[in-house]
Amino acid sequence: MTPLRTRDPASLTEAEAAEELAALAAEIAHHDALYHGQDAPEISDAEYDALVARNRAIEARFPALLRPDSPSRRVGAAAAEGFAKSRHGEPMLSLNNVFSAGEFAEFCASIRRFLGLSAEEALRFVAEPKIDGLSINLLYEDGAFVKGATRGDGVEGEDVTQNLLTIPDLPRHLRAPFPARIEIRGEVFMDKADFLAFRAAQEAALAEREARRARGEKLGDAIVVPANPRNAAAGSVRQLDARVTAARPLKLFAYAMGASSEPAAESHHAFLQRLEHWGFKVNPLSTLLETEAAAEDFQRRIGDQRAALGYDIDGVVYKLDRLDWQRRLGFVGRAPRWAIAWKFPAEQATTVLLDIEIQVGRTGALTPRAVMQPVTVGGVVVRHATLHNEDEIARKDIRIGDTVRIQRAGDVIPQVVEVLLDKRPPGAQPFVFPTTCPACGSHAIRDGEDVVRRCTGGLVCPAQAVERLKHFVSRRAMDIEGLGEENIQKLFDEGLVRSPADIFRLARHADRMRQWEGWGASAKKPEEARKVAKLLDAIEARRNVPLERFIFALGIRRIGEQNAKLLARHYHTLEEWRAKMIAAHVIGSEAREELGSIQGIGPAIAEELVEFFA
Ligand code: IVH
Repeated sequence: MTPLRTRDPASLTEAEAAEELAALAAEIAHHDALYHGQDAPEISDAEYDALVARNRAIEARFPALLRPDSPSRRVGAAAAEGFAKSRHGEPMLSLNNVFSAGEFAEFCASIRRFLGLSAEEALRFVAEPKIDGLSINLLYEDGAFVKGATRGDGVEGEDVTQNLLTIPDLPRHLRAPFPARIEIRGEVFMDKADFLAFRAAQEAALAEREARRARGEKLGDAIVVPANPRNAAAGSVRQLDARVTAARPLKLFAYAMGASSEPAAESHHAFLQRLEHWGFKVNPLSTLLETEAAAEDFQRRIGDQRAALGYDIDGVVYKLDRLDWQRRLGFVGRAPRWAIAWKFPAEQATTVLLDIEIQVGRTGALTPRAVMQPVTVGGVVVRHATLHNEDEIARKDIRIGDTVRIQRAGDVIPQVVEVLLDKRPPGAQPFVFPTTCPACGSHAIRDGEDVVRRCTGGLVCPAQAVERLKHFVSRRAMDIEGLGEENIQKLFDEGLVRSPADIFRLARHADRMRQWEGWGASAKKPEEARKVAKLLDAIEARRNVPLERFIFALGIRRIGEQNAKLLARHYHTLEEWRAKMIAAHVIGSEAREELGSIQGIGPAIAEELVEFFA
C-alpha cells in the first residue's frame, strides 16, 4: 500500500482512494491502540500525524468515501445542535436491587421456582462489579463500529458516536470472527484519580471565570464542576463538541449484548471471553461462581476492596451463567429475572461534631449544618453534613461534642445517621434550636405544619437581604454581568445596596466606588480603571428584561421560574401585575379570584404573593 501514499489525492481513482482509506483506518487504529492502550507506540508522533493528515486529505477529495470508522471522526467537528435520536435494536433495561444475603437467597429461590429446579441443582453466576458510570449501546456491522448511543429512556437514546470514538478503550474493529451485526453494551466511566484531577481543573477554571466576572470582563462558556465520577463521565459523553470529550480521561468496560444477528456464545462467561477477544476491556474482577453460595463471600471480598479500587462501584451484578436459562426466565417489567444488582450499603464513617451552624437562606429558612472534625468517607474528605431541620436534630438527639456516624450515599452532602451514645461526653446538652435569627435577631417562627423555622425579619435581615440580592442578579434572574456574589456582598457591606432597587441607583455612588481598592482611581491596570463604568453599563443594560425574569428575580417564596412564567403570561405587564396583586389582598375580591383561576397557581402560592406585596 505504501506506493499510493505519496501520490496526490487528486490523482487517485475512487477505488484506490477507498482502498487507501480502509488501510489508513486500520493502521491508525492499530497505532491508537498501541499508544493509548499499551503506552508503547511504534511510530513517532510526527509519523502518526502524517498518517492522519493523509487520511484527511483523501477524505477531503472523496467526501462520499468517509468511513463510519474514519480516524478523522475520532475527534470530530461539533454537532450543530443537540444529538440525533437513536433507537436501540433491543431495549436497554435496568436491574432490580437486593441489599442483603437474605434478599439474594430469595432472588435465587424465585429463579428455581420459575425454572422448576430442585434445591440440589447449582445456580452458576457470573459476578461483575457494578460500575457507577454511563451505560451505552455500541452497534458493530461487519466488525466495524458504526454507531453508539446513550441509554436514554431504554428504547431510544442519543447518538453520541463522535464522542465515543474518542475513547481509547472502544474497539473500532472487532477481531474476527464476529456476528455480521451485533450490539454491545457497556459502561463509560472515569477513574477516581482522573476525576479528582479533572474536578480540580474545573474548580480552578470556575474561580478564574468568577474573577473575570468580578472584573466585569466577558465570560466564556459555563463551567460545570461535577459532583462525582458518574456525572463527570455522563457530562463528558454528552458534549456537543467531540474535542471536549477527547480531552476527558474516559474508560470503557463491556458487559452485555443487545440485538445480534447470531448467537454470540454458549454461556455468559464465554461471552465475556469473546468480548475480550473482540478487543473490549472486561472488568478483570468479573468471576464465574460455581454455586450461589459463593456470592456472599464474593460480595464481602469486593466490598473490602472497594475503597482501594481505581473506580467507583456501587455493588455487584450477578448474572445467571446459562443463556438457555436466561432466555426462559425473560424479563419482568424493565428488569431481567436472571440478573440482580446486590448493592453495597452507603459508605459510612464516624467523627466528632464540633458545632452546629445555622445558615439563613433567601426566604429566611434557618438551616442547621454540622461542622465536624474532617474525616474521609469513601475517599472524600468531609467537614460538613446536613442536619435537615430542628425536628431531625431532636429526633436523633444530636448534641455538640457527640461522636456521630455519618454516611455519604453516592454523592452530594453527607448525612448524620446516628449518635454513638456511649461516646457522648459528660455534660453534653441537648441542642436548643434558636428562636431568633442569628443574623438579625428577629423572631424565627414555624408556620403550622412547616418543619422549617424562618426568620421574620424580611429585608431587615441582612442575611436574607444579601441572599435575595444574590438571587436577584444571578444568571437565571436579572443576569447582570460583573455583579457576582462577591460584589453584592461588598456593595451591601458598604451600605450602597440594600434592596434590588438600589442596584439601579448605583450611578450616584460611582465616585465612592472608584475609591475602592482595585475599582478605579488607584487602579494599576486599565481594565480596572473602567470597572465602575462597565458595571454601571451592565446594570443599565438590564433595566428592561422580560417580565417573567423580573418576577423570578424577586425571589418570592414558591415562585420559581415556572410560576413566574405563568404569572407573566397572565398579567403581561409589571403595572398590571402589581396592581392586581395589591388588590388581591382582599379575600373574595375579583383580583384574588382571578389569581386563583390561573392554572398552576394554588392557594398557598396566592398567599405568598399577596403577603409579598403587603
Ligand atoms: S447488565 C439486563 N452489567 O447498571 C442487564 N449493568 O441497573 C442490564 N451496570 O443500566 C445491565 N455495571 O448502567 C450490567 N456489569 C454490569 C453493570 C451494569 C454497571 C449499570 C448499567 C445499567 C444499570 C442497571
